[in-house]
Amino acid sequence: MTAQYQVIGDVAVISMHNPPVNGLSHATRLGLTDGLNRANADAAVKAIVVTGAGKAFSGGADIKEFGTDKALAEPNLLSVIRALELSPKPVVAAVHSVAMGGGLELALGCHYRIAAPGCSVALPEVKLGLIPGAGGTQRLPRVIGVEPALNMIVSGEPVKAELLAQIPGQKLFDKMAASPESLADEALVFAREMAAKHADGSALPLVRNLPCKHPLGDAYFQFARNMVKGMSKNYPAPAKCVDAVEAATKRKFDDGMLFEREIFINLMWTPECRALRHIFMAERATSKIPDVPEDTPQRAIKNVAIIGAGTMGGGIAMNFLNAGIAVKMLEMKQEALDCGVGVMRKNYEAQVAKGKLKADKFQQRMDLLSTTLSYDDLKDADLVIEAVFEELGVKEKVFKQLDTVMKPGAILASNTSTLDVNAIAHFTKRPQDVVGMHFFSPANVMKLLEVVRGADTAKDVMATVMGVAKKIKKTAVVSGVCDGFIGNRMIEQYSRQAGFMLDEGASPQQIDKAVEKFGFAMGPFRMGDLAGNDIGWAIRKRRATEQANLRYSKTADLLCEMGRFGQKTGAGWYDYQAGKRDAIPSALVQEMIDKHRATLGIALRKISDEEIVQRLVFALVNEAAHILEEGIASKASDIDMVYLTGYGFPIFRGGPMHYADQLGLFNVVAAMQRFAANPYDDASFWKPAPLLAKLAAEGKTFN
Ligand SMILES: NC(=O)c1ccc[n+]([C@@H]2O[C@H](COP(=O)([O-])OP(=O)(O)OC[C@H]3O[C@@H](n4cnc5c(N)ncnc54)[C@H](O)[C@@H]3O)[C@@H](O)[C@H]2O)c1
Repeated sequence: MTAQYQVIGDVAVISMHNPPVNGLSHATRLGLTDGLNRANADAAVKAIVVTGAGKAFSGGADIKEFGTDKALAEPNLLSVIRALELSPKPVVAAVHSVAMGGGLELALGCHYRIAAPGCSVALPEVKLGLIPGAGGTQRLPRVIGVEPALNMIVSGEPVKAELLAQIPGQKLFDKMAASPESLADEALVFAREMAAKHADGSALPLVRNLPCKHPLGDAYFQFARNMVKGMSKNYPAPAKCVDAVEAATKRKFDDGMLFEREIFINLMWTPECRALRHIFMAERATSKIPDVPEDTPQRAIKNVAIIGAGTMGGGIAMNFLNAGIAVKMLEMKQEALDCGVGVMRKNYEAQVAKGKLKADKFQQRMDLLSTTLSYDDLKDADLVIEAVFEELGVKEKVFKQLDTVMKPGAILASNTSTLDVNAIAHFTKRPQDVVGMHFFSPANVMKLLEVVRGADTAKDVMATVMGVAKKIKKTAVVSGVCDGFIGNRMIEQYSRQAGFMLDEGASPQQIDKAVEKFGFAMGPFRMGDLAGNDIGWAIRKRRATEQANLRYSKTADLLCEMGRFGQKTGAGWYDYQAGKRDAIPSALVQEMIDKHRATLGIALRKISDEEIVQRLVFALVNEAAHILEEGIASKASDIDMVYLTGYGFPIFRGGPMHYADQLGLFNVVAAMQRFAANPYDDASFWKPAPLLAKLAAEGKTFN
């Protein structure tokens, strides 16, 4: 059992104790009901306080139990809350730090609530594709009113107790403690007062008995439904939140509870909810590296140096400045420094103009930035990140120089997208200190960071870089060394398929539309125009010598030969009007594609949107299976996180591996066999990776 029981004078205190956030696991629930029984059986106890030990009142359901028998095993949360309501002795919830989801629902089942200042409460279930399932939709409107409650339930966002306490007539908090430190003592005093108040046997107050009405009734809920329409496009839960809260205003309490339960259980098995729950777990799992224990000591990172103030260098620097870490940037020429700093300044100014950043914060950040032309000035940095031109020769010069100046123990990182991190490490005499930190563009915005582990990278370097990533709010995923690492190696196969489909008869806009309808933020051609088609062109030229047998559609090269590099040149796969980003289908590009098709001698055909999506997504999946098998990624969920946070894969589909798992790997393999039979496609690529073939044959999944 994971709750502590203590009697202080005539008050029993039950403290949930399930670190880190007192998740309401089966054992915690047992601890609560056990404590309640003991308190009610003890004649010396007059009142009961329920609270949380450590850092939280309660973070809510224990997500580790989701989908297992334990989640619903008695006493389930509904039974615990019912037991609290039925306690003949007054029960006071002493809420501090956070009360989330089931934690707040538990507090709402108590007779009284006292809150510590600064604590926040939330019903975040919607973020997992659910609605609150233990009375939250029925009780919260009764204590803070229908509108504030629905706002909290639909957004899932935490709200500070002080703010809620200001709502006129609110019954969520009966009392605010003077300080977090005094909460425990004040709760005891308050519990004794309530025991005295009810010594005459008067009924204890229950949230379920409070009225629940909205003065505008149906009109308000119609309005609320319109409001959630936008956010509900690919998610069923927000609209269901409205239904459930409406039921609180129209049905008897117990009927409303049954209605909420039914919705909750139905949502639990929707693909969207499965995807969101998968992501929740996957995100937490990214920081776990199989052979690097979580308690591995980390090196102190107090100041950071960045080499190169170009597109990436500036964006990378902003991450550290935002986190309050000092940055020194080095360039070859003063003009390049001035230009780089100017771009950063502009980015911040745009944030200030939009009200997203306060002017004083902007200044504080800029004050943490300094620049230099001399390597000597970098020698005290704890971490240096190189973001110079993507040429091995240039990297060699930089790393040799770093090796001579940097203090022992400094971490030397490269932001290379495609070059061999092991080769870079061996430009130094300290390959154990070298690691890849592959940021995505724009680096101050994109969540993804691939941490590339070289053959010699020390474990504490890995632990430190993963810790740094957390500080700068990145989703860090570990990748082994290979061409393109996890993300770009997979996108390569995706792009090849997109090219083949152009040759076979699809247009760029048809392919983009199909993929965007599937849920991707952007189709492959719009993406190419945004990132710059010349980048892929350069990579293909390099590969032409290394991997001469890898076949591509020639259209992408022909496009670049036309000088159509994308938005930056005002023309790419699409036409662009000056100053606008709208992609306009291009007659010139279509002519180029038609001419090229004529040289191929293949019969053009109409390709269905379904085939487009499958060929693109399964290309990712098959390459990912190789990546897993080779140990480049240590788990399938890491690959999902790469695609969700770096490549615009639709969140509600949970990532390519989760999506394939949900379709059934057997079906994925069957589709690959069909694609392999297409004489124009690359049959050898469509041979399922051995891991995929094996899992499909065994009826298993990646995740
Ligand atoms: N642009 C992207 O989308 C992207 C994404 C991820 C990774 N990367 C990688 O990041 C690195 C930088 O790319 P970028 O797009 O910022 O390039 P960029 O051309 O915008 O910037 C490179 C900067 O490095 C400076 N530089 C070159 N040699 C130098 C040296 N010896 N010492 C100091 N400064 C030097 C240049 O003056 C220039 O300002 C590359 O390795 C690239 O592959 C780029």
